[in-house]
Amino acid sequence: MIRKLNSNKLTVALPKGRLFDQTIDIFRKAGILKEEINSSSRKLIIESGDFYFLLVRAKDVPTYVENGIADIGVAGDDVLIESDPDVYRPVDLNIGVCSIVVAGLPESKEKYFSNPTSIKVSTKYPKVTKQFFGKKGVKVHIIELYGSVELAPLVGLSDYIVDIVETGRTLRENGLVVIEHIRQSSAKLIVNRISYKTRKEKLFPIIEKLHKFLDKGE
Ligand code: PRP
Repeated sequence: MIRKLNSNKLTVALPKGRLFDQTIDIFRKAGILKEEINSSSRKLIIESGDFYFLLVRAKDVPTYVENGIADIGVAGDDVLIESDPDVYRPVDLNIGVCSIVVAGLPESKEKYFSNPTSIKVSTKYPKVTKQFFGKKGVKVHIIELYGSVELAPLVGLSDYIVDIVETGRTLRENGLVVIEHIRQSSAKLIVNRISYKTRKEKLFPIIEKLHKFLDKGE
C-alpha cells in the first residue's frame, strides 16, 4: 500500500535518536512547533501540528529529501559529504557538532607521521577518507564498516580509522587517540529544491524563525 500523506502539511525527515530530540527542541524554542511529540514511540510517521515527521536512519535523510518524499530534513555534514544530495542547505542548526578525525592506537602515531605512501583505514566515511588522503597524496586502502569502527585497530583490521568524535568517550574507553583532525561537522537543515520553490509560504517562515532563534545564540 502506498500511503499518501496529507499534502497541506510539511513533511520533515529526521534521524532517530539524539538529533531528533535536539531538532524538536529547536523547533519548539523557535516557535515553529507548539504541539507535544512522543518520540519514544516506535511509530515511523509522527503527525504533530502542521508537520509529519518521518523517523529514518541518519544516512537516509538526504534520500527522502532529495526525492521529495520529505520537504525538509536534518543531516550532518558527515552524512552530506558522503551522499552529496542535490538539496538546499539554508541553515546550520549548530547541533550534532562533532569532529571527523583520523584515529588509532597511540603506538601507530609515529608510523602515520613518517610519510607512508599508502595506508589502510577502516571507516563509515569512504568519500571523506578518499578526499582527505587524496589531497595529501597518500594512497589509501579503505575498509568500509557500518559501525563500531573503533574495533578495527584493536583487532588488527587496520591501524587507522576515520570516524566522528563527539564526546571522545568511545575513543578513550578503547585506548585510541586522535591522530589528525580532518574537519568539523554539524547538522544542517536541508530542503528539497522543488518544495523550496512551490511551498515558499510554509518554508520561508520556518527558515526565518530558525535564523532568528540561532542568531540570538541560543
Ligand atoms: C558514533 C561514532 C563513534 C561515536 C563517537 O557511533 O562512529 O563511534 O559515535 O561518539 P563519542 O565521541 O561521543 O564517544 P554511533 O554511536 O553512531 O554508533 P555506531 O558505531 O554503531 O555507528
